[in-house]
Formats: sequence, structure tokens, C-alpha cells
Amino acid sequence: MNYDPALPSVADMAVRARKRIPGFAFDYLEGGIGNEECLRRNRSDLNDVILWPRYLTDVTEVDTRCKLFGHQYDLGLGVSPVGLGNMMWPNAEVHLASAAQEANIPYVLSTMSTTPLETIAELAPDVGWFQLYVPREHDVMQDMIKRVDNAGFNALVITVDLPIGAKRDKELKNGLILPFRLTPRLFKQAICRPTWSLLTLRYGIPNFVNLAPYGKVENINHLGEFLTHFFTSGVTPERIREIRSLWQGPLIIKGPLRSADLEQCHALGVDGVIISNHAGRQLDAAPSSIKALSQLPQHLHNKLTVIIDSGIRAGLDVIRAKALGARAAFSGRSFLYAMAAVGSDGGRQVIEIYRDEIKRSLQQLGCKEFESMDASWLEP
Ligand SMILES: Cc1cc2nc3c(=O)[nH]c(=O)nc-3n(C[C@H](O)[C@H](O)[C@H](O)COP(=O)(O)O)c2cc1C
Repeated sequence: MNYDPALPSVADMAVRARKRIPGFAFDYLEGGIGNEECLRRNRSDLNDVILWPRYLTDVTEVDTRCKLFGHQYDLGLGVSPVGLGNMMWPNAEVHLASAAQEANIPYVLSTMSTTPLETIAELAPDVGWFQLYVPREHDVMQDMIKRVDNAGFNALVITVDLPIGAKRDKELKNGLILPFRLTPRLFKQAICRPTWSLLTLRYGIPNFVNLAPYGKVENINHLGEFLTHFFTSGVTPERIREIRSLWQGPLIIKGPLRSADLEQCHALGVDGVIISNHAGRQLDAAPSSIKALSQLPQHLHNKLTVIIDSGIRAGLDVIRAKALGARAAFSGRSFLYAMAAVGSDGGRQVIEIYRDEIKRSLQQLGCKEFESMDASWLEP
């Protein structure tokens, strides 16, 4: 076993993480929008996916590899972009990018990361993807795409499910302000978490270094307001066309849920999509991502590489998503829980948990290759 048996699952890591991250940062990581119904649906709909095992098969060896955009990854698992990752755990972005490179799984760096994108591209030369919230200003957008390209990222992910910054009540009540500052109120919570505080002293207060060249953003009261101020209110087809002409590598749209939107993505020359509801953080009435995935017509899978995230917490969830047609499944929170629960080795440990669970699930189901897991396992 390549991980600590005292923390054998993502759920265990989440429990430990809560005790090690200041309340305002844990609420930011854990929270959803509104009554958090969408957040709950992501889990309950995944739990409802039943798979029928096939015994009478030799499963001594199983192949967990997964090919995406011409690259053979070791697992059908990836790290979703998480803004302010270093606020949840200091230096998390560096540790996670390195762990993903070592494990050969995709690592998606957020526009709202606080580590220079060039640093991450160097740490994850084979597996680094960049997620872009589309800036309002065209010249800023063009410059960012040029930097991402020059840095050597392998894919560009455009997030479309955030036409406006969300109003998340916990963030408002906690008084999380941007640029991030430890106000007396936040400081009081931070000193109850000594390891986090010492590491923050060592690595510094996170700030949006990747956006810094484009001017100072001052006096913004909460994250939602910041996002609305800096980024487009809705990514239009024209923008996607423009991005397509600027970016030659794999182009992935993150957040569409409806078949018609996916159809349009394909018509615009997009290579792949991440079916996502932003982890239940944008629209409480949104369908779970697994339900949206289950309703896609087959012909869309032939046209686009379909990936899913939102609610994935175990290797079995990755297999469930694969059975429903996703080529791979990503998670955001799993990796930050692990960083906070374990420290610098957290990324490696949680990937090993997923690897073990994916392998065991395939063996238990009588499926020798991850790539062959399909809808036939949903039937008796
Ligand atoms: C704290 C937090 C910050 C996030 N920041 C971003 C972001 O900057 N860009 C983005 O495209 N998605 C962002 N997301 C959404 C994730 O990329 C991903 O869709 C989601 O975390 C997957 O669900 P899971 O956390 O339940 O695994 C964020 C999610 C969380 C929880």
C-alpha cells in the first residue's frame, strides 16, 4: 500500500483537512451555492450508478491507462483547476503539479492560481493544462494565451459556467476579501491553525500573480465581484472562435451541460469538453454532472473528448463516469483535502488511493482495461 492506512479515502482526508485549514478557507473549499442542493445531487446521483460485476474472468493484470488528446496518461483521473489553491494549503499548487507529473495524470492550473504559470509549466511539462477565465479585454486575453503557449502547457481549458461571479453566502459571511488579506477577523481563525499559519508565513500571502501584469484590482469586497469585474459576462461563440485561432493545441470547454451547447462547441472547432457544474458552486438548480453526462447522445462522444468533474471522490466514481461515457473523470476538492490532511506528500498519497481504488474496481467488475469500461456494465 503506497498511502497511509490511517487515511485510506478522500472522505477521511476531508475530515482531517477541516481540522488543519482555517474556517474561512475550508468554507471556501467545501461550500456550494444556495442551499447546496446541487452539491448534494452530485454525490447522490453518483451513488445511484449501479454496476454489474462479471466474475469468471482472470483479472490478475488490469490496465488503468487512459489516452486523452494523443497523450497516454497512467489513470483516467485528473486534477481540476482550483482558484486560490495556496490559500487552502500553502504551496499546494507546486506540490500538486509535481505529484501529477510524477504520476502522469493531467494537472489543470487555474487562472486564479497564485503560483506563476511559468513555474507550474516547468514542474508539469508533460501533464500541465491551463484553465482560462476569459478576460474582458481582448488584448489581455491574447497576451495570456501567448504566455500559456510559450510556457509549454499541453491543453487550454476555457471555463464557460461562470458568466457572473457567484454569490456564495458563506464567503460573504466570512468576510473573504480580495486581494486576499488576513483581516483581524480572518487572522483570529488562522492562529487556531498553527501549521497553516507557519507555512503561510514561509510562502507568503497568496495573490493573483498571473493577473498582476494587467493592472491592480483594489477595493473588491468578495471573490464573485472580482470575477465579474475582470472577466467576460458570458463566453460567446465569437470569443471561442478567436481563441481557437490563437491556440493550436487541444482546446477544451469546461462547464457545458446541455447537448446543444456541446454540439455548438464541436461546430466551433473545440476538441473536448469537461461536463461540470463547477462543483455545485454556481447554480443550485443545475443537474448533477453525472446526470448531464448520462443524457448525452452517443454521437457527441464520437465528436468530442468528454471528461467529467463535480463530486468525484473515489476510484469507483471514476469507473462509474467511464461506464456512462466519460473518457476520464477529474476532481478539484479531493486534491486540496489531501494537501491539507497530509502536507507536502498529500498529492502523491491521494493519487495512490485513486490508483488503488480504480484498479480494484476494475478487478472486482471483471474489466481488464479501463479503456474498455462502458455502458454494458450498467446492464444485468
Ligand atoms: C475552491 C474551488 C475553487 C475553484 N476554482 C475554479 C477555477 O478557478 N476555475 C475553474 O474552472 N473551476 C474552478 N473550480 C471548479 C473545479 O475546477 C471543478 O469543476 C470542481 O472542483 C470539481 O468538483 P469537486 O471539487 O467536487 O471534485 C473550483 C472549485 C473549488 C471547489
